Amino acid sequence: MKKGKTSFFCRNCGYESPKWLGKCPACNEWNAFIEEDIGGPEGDAGFSALQLNEKPLSIDAIEADERERITTNVMELDRVLGGGIVQGSAVLVGGDPGIGKSTLLLQVLQKLAEQDRNVLYVSGEESARQIKLRGRRIGAGSKNLMVLVETALENILQHLSDLKPEVAVIDSVQTVYSSILGSAPGSVGQVRETAGKLILFAKKTGISIFLVGHVTKDGAIAGPKVLEHMVDTVLYFEGDSGHAYRIVRGIKNRFGPSNEIGVFEMRDCGLAEVANPSAFFLSDRPDSASGSAVVPSMEGTRPILVEIQALVSPSTLGMPRRTSIGVDSSRVSLLVAVLDRICGMHLSSHDIFLNVAGGIRVDEPAVDLGIVAAMASSFLNRPIYPGTVVFGEVGLTGEVRGIAQMLLRTREASRMGFTRCILPRTLSQEIPDPEGLELCRVGSLGELLEQLF
Ligand code: TYD
Ligand code: MG
Repeated sequence: MKKGKTSFFCRNCGYESPKWLGKCPACNEWNAFIEEDIGGPEGDAGFSALQLNEKPLSIDAIEADERERITTNVMELDRVLGGGIVQGSAVLVGGDPGIGKSTLLLQVLQKLAEQDRNVLYVSGEESARQIKLRGRRIGAGSKNLMVLVETALENILQHLSDLKPEVAVIDSVQTVYSSILGSAPGSVGQVRETAGKLILFAKKTGISIFLVGHVTKDGAIAGPKVLEHMVDTVLYFEGDSGHAYRIVRGIKNRFGPSNEIGVFEMRDCGLAEVANPSAFFLSDRPDSASGSAVVPSMEGTRPILVEIQALVSPSTLGMPRRTSIGVDSSRVSLLVAVLDRICGMHLSSHDIFLNVAGGIRVDEPAVDLGIVAAMASSFLNRPIYPGTVVFGEVGLTGEVRGIAQMLLRTREASRMGFTRCILPRTLSQEIPDPEGLELCRVGSLGELLEQLF
């Protein structure tokens, strides 16, 4: 291997610098810079050889019929993708190792193979036997599902052009290497180069490609962030080992809405779709316990009911503890200050623990009112009136502000059998009374406390 020109790259986001830096100016990650070979002229020649000999065209003359979408029949994934896989698109699926990326994608390929489509699963991580065994567990055994164990990019591209599958999965992009570059598989340079060529290939041939990318906190391989700007769609797998549920969240989507989520449950026969996430996240909710509030939170275009739990108890420490899981802790501090100042609830000498049940994260202002309701209920040790949901943003003077999508949230609450909804008294959105749901409009935290119990 010839030692060529080198440069320093951030392992987290791919930022390039001519010298080593302690902190990345782009993503603020510490100690993430590594020196890498940048290939020199050979590498560039290899890349340009794949470029198309295109001529400039008048925008008027470009033919652009709506590209066909391939529905996977995995509804939760189709929704996140915006209605199915767009032909010739590149989708990055990121997530922690062991979260279920390979399992989901093998299931998706099986569903596609069942529709008589040719699909290819390329693995650089597992042997064909291991893939077969996993496939047996999750019911993936179709003839049209081809498996290739290969890590050399040039060979993968060759097989892709020979087989011409409709959809291909590269698991994972960090194991693939191009012999043009001298650096090791998983380095920023290799990940960018191999993904770049695969994406270009997808655009040229109309094959849709899923790239799997492991998220790594430390270690020597580049994270999927490096690729986010190159692909059409970015999906991240969330969930933790303590819970069976997995969420696929769309972070970027050139062909549909982003921020949409798909909910799955990990079973022993693979990932099962959770068609009714509200019921799933509320399944173990205690009846009439103080400190529990239910909030309809928008996840993409879909409202999901989640339970916010608070435990407020007098502290024995000089500096009371504040722990929040699933909600933004600075938002919680702000709401604690408002409760203290406006409602006279002196929480400053209390430990406060907040948790969103099920381990899901909710980050929109609409959950403010739910956090306040849960904290007030725990502080006063009074359960919230049964069958009540709350939502709304809280301002610094204790006013309750309107939020988006009020109608969708009230509909979901009524669908799930709730009977009361406490919501902002804003005139901007007219909400027809959903069946069986009493609407209690509040304009301030004082009014909220009157309606809660
Ligand atoms: P995997 O898809 O290999 O994760 P990734 O590709 O993201 O690294 O998932 C592995 C985990 O999923 C492993 O801990 C076992 C679990 N699992 C099940 O619980 N049920 C199953 O049917 C399968 C195939 C995996
Ligand atoms: Mg895997």
